[in-house]
Amino acid sequence: LASHIYNYQGFWIAPRHLQGVIACQQQFQAQDSDIILVTSPKSGTTWLKALVFALVNRIRFPFSEQNHPLLVNNPHDLVPFLELKLYIDGQVPNFSSFTSPRLLSTHLPYGSLPKSVQHSKNKLVYLCRNPRDIFISLFHFTNNLRIENMGTNSIEEMLDLFCKGVSLYGPFWNHVLDYWKKSIENPKKVLFLMYEEMKEQPEIQLKRLAEFLGCSFSIEEEKSGVVDEILKMCSFENLSNLEVNKNEKLSTGEENKVFFRRGKVGDWKNYFTLEMTEKLNHIIEQKFQGSGLLFE
Ligand code: A3P
Repeated sequence: LASHIYNYQGFWIAPRHLQGVIACQQQFQAQDSDIILVTSPKSGTTWLKALVFALVNRIRFPFSEQNHPLLVNNPHDLVPFLELKLYIDGQVPNFSSFTSPRLLSTHLPYGSLPKSVQHSKNKLVYLCRNPRDIFISLFHFTNNLRIENMGTNSIEEMLDLFCKGVSLYGPFWNHVLDYWKKSIENPKKVLFLMYEEMKEQPEIQLKRLAEFLGCSFSIEEEKSGVVDEILKMCSFENLSNLEVNKNEKLSTGEENKVFFRRGKVGDWKNYFTLEMTEKLNHIIEQKFQGSGLLFE
């Protein structure tokens, strides 16, 4: 794996994404109204994209519509990655066809975001997940599915690299901690969400998200069940069973189905040996100690 990924500005990326990252850093112009979704890969990006798309567009696209965009598109095609979109098109899009607020996403660490994203009033939603589940999800994504063409590594070898910080957009801890600190310093700019909390208390977390984005639910909406409709529409069960996500490909070429595996909390327990558990526990403890973040 290590020979298939490249260290740029202190984080690791697939070489094929480097050009897009640099282009976006140099040229992307943020608008104050932009909503940018940020994740470390496998944190639940696809889910977050679906939720925010449904939430922000709930008036424009009512859920009764048979052709609601989320029923016929993979969420990645509705909320593109800044850096990947740039790379694929070979040029910098201005996202001018996007209605305001523009919904965009990125895996970039805070310090490597385009300067205009760091300095304008746009909002960043960060979704974090237990690194143990991220690791297992990443293992399936990069290794079994050979998505990133990173060669084959055993699970032990991959864990060894992960613990050394060598994973897509890693070191994982740096990625999380930078956004975590920003969310404390500037809670109007960065909202920090946890995958596990969204699974456990979806209504509460969705309402938090709506409030942060300035589109809180009205009392009438709550009464009429809109919150639940959004959660149902974006559930793993619903999205993963749609024709588009079972049999079609993204505009970037990946099969949509690779973004839906199990969608559960704690699947790592089915894969980790005691030795692996201790190894990752040790580094998690060391890196997150005193931060206020807990991963159990
Ligand atoms: P697992 O591999 O643990 O199943 P990303 O979208 O960042 O690439 O992350 C993918 C992970 O999110 C996968 O985790 C995938 O199954 C899970 N996922 C995808 N859609 C989801 C949804 N609607 N709800 C919850 N989890 C979802």
